Amino acid sequence: MKGHAKKAAQEAAGGTGLLGTDSSPSTAQTRSPRSRVTGHLLIVVLGAVLAVTTLEGCMRGCGSSRPPIHPNYSMFNQPKYRPYGASAFFYDGAAMRRPVPGTVARGHLVEDPVLESGKSADGSPVASSPVAVDEALVDRGRDRYGIYCQPCHDERGEGKGILFQRAKVPTANLLDKRIRDLPDGSLFDTITNGKGLMAGYRYPIRARDRWAIIAYVRSLEKAQAQREAAR
Ligand code: HEC
Repeated sequence: MKGHAKKAAQEAAGGTGLLGTDSSPSTAQTRSPRSRVTGHLLIVVLGAVLAVTTLEGCMRGCGSSRPPIHPNYSMFNQPKYRPYGASAFFYDGAAMRRPVPGTVARGHLVEDPVLESGKSADGSPVASSPVAVDEALVDRGRDRYGIYCQPCHDERGEGKGILFQRAKVPTANLLDKRIRDLPDGSLFDTITNGKGLMAGYRYPIRARDRWAIIAYVRSLEKAQAQREAAR
């Protein structure tokens, strides 16, 4: 019974749908005054907003000592001190604080000058590494060399890396007698500060790892010296 009633209602609805073309003028008549009212209201509100902002604010080009209008203040203004600003809070009247005496900036701690610079007290490069060379250090050096030096100086240290292969950039052969005879401190300086066409690796490679790389390069050179002696 209920199903029948529903079906009848649907049919009735469909019927009005078909007749919709006839009844549309009447619906338009009932709707239009309301939309006209909301339209007027919108114009009045927008006009009011425009009037308030132009009266309150300032036209372009004219100065004002008052702060600009912010509809939403949220994060525009936050209590904060700017660098070198004044502050009534501290006795010295400055907002910035002095570092505690003895403070060391990050990366500027030099506990062991020889380890960090490769130079002795008189400024000359140290003859041999201040880090005791053992198998673990050479292994670490091989690992770091593979990352930081091998792309250019190649696996064997002969300087036939990517720069040489692609652009014939003269890259030092680390097995050369000249470099073999350099003091360890001089290699350390080259890795730290760069030399000629080569950039420095002070920041990506920590001092201890630079010494590890030198230990590994020395092991490559020793093997080369042995090969030459066997010839
Ligand atoms: C981007 C390429 C590149 C990388 C990476 C590179 N080098 Fe070099 N290296 C060069 C070039 C090019 C030269 C030759 C510089 C010159 O004579 O102008 C050179 C020169 C050298 C020299 C000779 C310095 C001298 O006294 O003549 C040493 C030693 C050296 N490199 C060691 C290293 C070590 C160790 C690493 C890894 C930490 C390394 N290089 C990483 C390109 C590179």
